[in-house]
Amino acid sequence: TLPRHFDGELDLGIIGGTGLYKLDRLEQVAILPEMQTPWGQTSSPITISKVTDGRSPFYVAFLARHGLHHQFPPSKVPFRANIAALKHLRCKAVLSFSAVGSLQSYIKPRDFVLPQQIIDRTKGLRDHSYFNEEGLVGHVMFGDPFSRSFSDYIHKFHHVLENPDSPLPCLLHHDRELTVVCMEGPQFSTRAESRMYRNLGGHVINMSVIPEAKLARECELPYQMVCMSTDYDAWKEHEEPVTVESVMGHLANNSRNANSLASSVVQAMARELPEFMKSGDGLRGSVKYSISTKPE
Ligand code: ADE
Repeated sequence: TLPRHFDGELDLGIIGGTGLYKLDRLEQVAILPEMQTPWGQTSSPITISKVTDGRSPFYVAFLARHGLHHQFPPSKVPFRANIAALKHLRCKAVLSFSAVGSLQSYIKPRDFVLPQQIIDRTKGLRDHSYFNEEGLVGHVMFGDPFSRSFSDYIHKFHHVLENPDSPLPCLLHHDRELTVVCMEGPQFSTRAESRMYRNLGGHVINMSVIPEAKLARECELPYQMVCMSTDYDAWKEHEEPVTVESVMGHLANNSRNANSLASSVVQAMARELPEFMKSGDGLRGSVKYSISTKPE
């Protein structure tokens, strides 16, 4: 059940990754239990937060990708249910957070990255599409998998991380070519694979942007991932390859910064709904042109 003052339209969906299981800077007004969808149950309850210092109340839905107890491994996350639930709640865009390994020395642990491209190295174990049934074939555009307007909007708040007064100032990297490699996992990469991903043009690596980004596109939702670096993966010759311990060491700091960034972005959106959310960033209504099946 939704709160009384909630008129059925949410504004922004936020998906938290490893280390980000709640938003602690926003006023929470309701918790919806795990939502049942035709594609299964969402990975966590959905927390609704409300920001009121704007024109009209601005509502945010938050869910934890791996579950509140981190019980879903990357290959078993109910990605289709998660994105369908945010669409059903009428979110206008999806802001997603993910812990990543860095494939470049200039992207240091605790830096954040706004990628613009993806290299899919998953192994076909995940449901990648809502168009996987016989009878309805659809091929959406995916050349630019993220929303440029959304990432520009988020980048305006880079000072939140780059604050020189904070004990560990971190960078928010943002340029056209930044590429996230998505691997299947759950094991981390070998050194040879890690070097290969560098040669392929990868900047960071995770286990979850695929199929999340594809499904958001099929739902016509502007989508941007904020990658939070925790380690240098396995490509550095004289360094230990990544371990869970090294990842965990940076999670608390990353989670604090993710909360600050999310709350700055949300408060700005509440003051003035950005154009890409009003217009759907050119995606609204686009999927009908992607359907190949002819009506009978
Ligand atoms: N998530 C955090 N660090 C990672 C790495 N090195 N590889 C894949 N996913 C990660």
